[in-house]
Amino acid sequence: MRKRILAGNWKMYKTAEEAKSFMEEVLSKVPVSENVEVVICPPSLYLSELAQLTKDSSVGIGAQTMHDVKEGAFTGEISSAMLSNSGVNYVILGHSERRQYFNESDESVNRKVHAAFEYDLTPIVCVGESLEERENGKTGDKVAGQVKKAFEGISQDLAPKAVIAYEPIWAIGTGKTATAEDANEVCGAIRTTIGDLYDEKIAGEIRIQYGGSVKPDNIEELLSMQHIDGALVGGASLEPKSFLKLVEACA
Ligand code: G3H
Repeated sequence: MRKRILAGNWKMYKTAEEAKSFMEEVLSKVPVSENVEVVICPPSLYLSELAQLTKDSSVGIGAQTMHDVKEGAFTGEISSAMLSNSGVNYVILGHSERRQYFNESDESVNRKVHAAFEYDLTPIVCVGESLEERENGKTGDKVAGQVKKAFEGISQDLAPKAVIAYEPIWAIGTGKTATAEDANEVCGAIRTTIGDLYDEKIAGEIRIQYGGSVKPDNIEELLSMQHIDGALVGGASLEPKSFLKLVEACA
């Protein structure tokens, strides 16, 4: 039985005051459940403070990206070593917005997956196809290629500790959700790819989230699918009320 994982990706939203007050409200109301791991990924500026606030709670903190080396002359960047040292537990890697606007590639995602594991961070590896790729029947190849490259050189011991987020690009922030069946089919194909790279046991253990316009009113159907183990949520993770409803659906 895989433990669900619900992660809120705040992207570039919230002032420091809003971030703190969201977290205080969520911490006072979040249900503690064996069934779900809850993660908030705020802008990097708030990571340390929120990691301190959530230290003794059931809520984990994740970064939205990071660099792939430990330290160096890379103005503006933060490393996995720094995240880990600041109490951060997760990192989103290869989000389609990073791929589209910040030159993230399958190769850099792979280097970052290695760097995340080196400092005990759980990587949330994002994969997904564009609308054009979907319409041309290329979804399976695209997603399998992204998964294979991301996991290159990752050992059998570490691979099942990663989380994969399947996010069709055309469903992000658009209000268009993939049907639960379509999302499940791609998540199932991702599991098969992991099985081919490793073995059936690891394929059965690895957790796969769906992301793309997940809301309180569609999460239950998505979660009822065999291969969907949680969600990576943007817009609906910004308000405590809707975020808590999403956690409750997973609990
Ligand atoms: O990381 C989250 C995804 O990009 C989904 O965003 O829930 O606003 O569509 P969204």
